[in-house]
Amino acid sequence: MKKPLIIAIDGPAGAGKSTTARRVAEHLGYAYIDTGAMYRAVTLKALQLHVPLEDQALGEVARNVTLELVQSPNGQRTILDGQDVTDAVRGADVTNAVSIVAACPTVRRAMVLLQRRIGNDGGVVMDGRDIGSVVFPNAHVKVFLVADVEERIRRRLAEATAQGQAASESDIRRQIVERDRLDSSREDSPLIRASGSVDIDTTSLTIDDQVQRIIDLVAAYHRTYDLISTFGSL
Ligand code: DC
Repeated sequence: MKKPLIIAIDGPAGAGKSTTARRVAEHLGYAYIDTGAMYRAVTLKALQLHVPLEDQALGEVARNVTLELVQSPNGQRTILDGQDVTDAVRGADVTNAVSIVAACPTVRRAMVLLQRRIGNDGGVVMDGRDIGSVVFPNAHVKVFLVADVEERIRRRLAEATAQGQAASESDIRRQIVERDRLDSSREDSPLIRASGSVDIDTTSLTIDDQVQRIIDLVAAYHRTYDLISTFGSL
């Protein structure tokens, strides 16, 4: 029985994190945890309650919500205070406000606690912006997924169209550029390449290639770990 690992996948919006992470988790029989959905759920709650988008008020919301991340054959379902909000958290109003909410230190503290509780025993693929740098700096495998901004815009547009959302290219471009700016420039846990992480540029890779590269990293980790265990026991 192989040791259950913590696999951290970070990167900007549209780099392919969620699809890749979900497929890697499926392949390994691990849980897939989409931490962006957690920040989105807090944002949805704050919008529903008409809470001002500032640190203390949002922190209160984050501490008081009940968030459950349920594994289903179609990926993670996000349950907020007993309601399935998996689709609702993808709406434009949430997308437009989430970077402001995710920049609040009190919100981040509450989410990081929850993420550590979920992932601590391993057997998880967790994707986000700060998983390898803050949530699990000792993750066994850390990946930083990047892609050219034009390709990320193209992917998000295709995704929105497939989901029947009315989004224009200029809207998506504005959202991605603004979210990159906010996520990378915030003071608390900005999007950075964590030390020890492996870069994968997905601009011209297929999903299968991306998934395979991470599976190869996991196999390499197990080989090294087995070797160390063997020599350790001689
Ligand atoms: O990956 P996504 O688009 O669902 O993320 C939504 C927002 O949450 C995005 O602005 C970045 C933020 N986020 C974060 O700050 N830290 C994480 N671990 C995950 C997402």
